[in-house]
Amino acid sequence: MALKGLHHLCTHSVRASPEDATMAPNDFTGQVALVTGGGSGIGRATCLLLARDGARVVVTDFNVQTARETHSLMPNPEKHLALQMDVTQQSAVQSVIATVRDKYGEPPSLLVNAAGIMNIDPSFDKTGDVVINVNLKGIFIVTEAFTEELLKGNEGAQEDKGVIVNIASILGKLGHPDFRHYAASKGGVITYSKSCAAHMIRKGIRINCILPGLVDTAMTKPFTEEFRQSICDKTPLPRAGKPEEIAEVVVFLLSWRSSFMVGACVEVTGGDGM
Ligand SMILES: NC(=O)c1ccc[n+]([C@@H]2O[C@H](COP(=O)([O-])OP(=O)(O)OC[C@H]3O[C@@H](n4cnc5c(N)ncnc54)[C@H](O)[C@@H]3O)[C@@H](O)[C@H]2O)c1
Repeated sequence: MALKGLHHLCTHSVRASPEDATMAPNDFTGQVALVTGGGSGIGRATCLLLARDGARVVVTDFNVQTARETHSLMPNPEKHLALQMDVTQQSAVQSVIATVRDKYGEPPSLLVNAAGIMNIDPSFDKTGDVVINVNLKGIFIVTEAFTEELLKGNEGAQEDKGVIVNIASILGKLGHPDFRHYAASKGGVITYSKSCAAHMIRKGIRINCILPGLVDTAMTKPFTEEFRQSICDKTPLPRAGKPEEIAEVVVFLLSWRSSFMVGACVEVTGGDGM
């Protein structure tokens, strides 16, 4: 009897109609997406996939020149925006969100926190202040500004209002002897994402987190070939990832397809650290 009931539930939860099977993978039409660190690497790849899937994309970066380059790579650039935004500056973040609301008549409902830095040279940022400010406090600042705007006058309602994806790192789970501050900042992103996810889901905002492994971007370019190879050698799929391979998981986590995922930390590492 119990099994019969389960079977009944299962057949109802499977999307099997041909119409569903041919649907576009993600459809963000009508939604405004804000991406931090959108001028490079994983943030840039995410902006391009969001534009592919119909979102109006606000590319933000500390480096506005690179944000504009990302913008210029998108089809229909008039739909999208490129803005300078330092995630460590609360007033700058609030002003970007106000600009977005003015331009589109609504605040962003999708947020990707991709901005980040790594203190590869240990003589830079000995106290770890810069890394913590950008990688961790930056996520606090942007998330608070985004959720506050989205919930304005509508805090209690239960409908889906927004989705956030935070980019942490597999080092936030594993630690690393050479990147102690960085790994600690990313560990913070993981626990902040889980805490925030639990806090926000009943207000209609869904939050998840991605833990990438080694990805070929500007951030990892300074690695020596020997170091890079040593990471590949210990990875079951022995190569670095491409930014697009992370971005595809980002857009999945932003889409309705992941609607039952809350506070998840998804490892996208080629098997490193599993
Ligand atoms: N590349 C990897 O191997 C790897 C692995 C795990 C996690 N990550 C994480 O992925 C995210 C994206 O990194 P990436 O590899 O694409 O690096 P990247 O250097 O290509 O891009 C990072 C972007 O963040 C921007 N940025 C830096 N400080 C900022 C600030 N204060 N305000 C706004 N923007 C700022 C930079 O200008 C740059 O455009 C980061 O959070 C990084 O820690 C990367």
